[in-house]
Amino acid sequence: MTIGPLDIVILISGRGSNMEAIIDAAHNHRIAVDIRAVISNEPDAAGLETAHQAGIDTQALDHRLFDNRDAFDAALIGLIDRHQPGLVVLAGFMRLLGKPFVQHYAGRLMNIHPALLPAFPGLNTHERALAAGVARHGATVHWVTDDVDAGPIIIQAAVDVKTGESAPDLAVRVLELEHRIYSKAVGWFADGRLSIESGNVLLDGKQQPQQGLMIEGSSGDGKTETD
Ligand code: GRF
Repeated sequence: MTIGPLDIVILISGRGSNMEAIIDAAHNHRIAVDIRAVISNEPDAAGLETAHQAGIDTQALDHRLFDNRDAFDAALIGLIDRHQPGLVVLAGFMRLLGKPFVQHYAGRLMNIHPALLPAFPGLNTHERALAAGVARHGATVHWVTDDVDAGPIIIQAAVDVKTGESAPDLAVRVLELEHRIYSKAVGWFADGRLSIESGNVLLDGKQQPQQGLMIEGSSGDGKTETD
């Protein structure tokens, strides 16, 4: 069923490469979304200029100007809801969002995390994965719930960790995966293909494994991707 184009708002804090991948997919009609706005809590975020250059409405909302998290979150809701989005996409948005915010966007708030959740929630994921000596590392797109980095998983992608690999090198390879899976997940939602039942993610009505659909990176075992 096609219900797009879906109005979305993207939240960023920095470079915005995941946002850029979604803009690229939208502008090339690979996904049926209309990016109504890009909002950053960091006024100097490089991604704001990238979005502006792409002809997208941009806004900055500096969290430092607010007394507390609730006040910032409420102002952010005000900015987002001007656009009445069907989906809010967190793309490197580095602020924790409070319960009222998460509940306000329940079922339409997506995040990308640079690790194979539930492993390595939080920050410095590549360093921690290397320190733990994992054989596989990757990225996860998930729905946002009250618990940080713990919502139902939509899709993951993984690569084999190379012997002696540095955290920056691993980060580059994982970021490539992020760009692939985030626009894919957003596109599925825009096409009405994603749903949730009792906390489980369904794609085309079929329940996904607990870790969501798994895509293998370049050094993986060559499983094929689902379009
Ligand atoms: C990505 O690795 C994302 O998973 C994490 O922060 C990074 C943001 O990168 N939350 P970018 O701003 O999308 O380039």
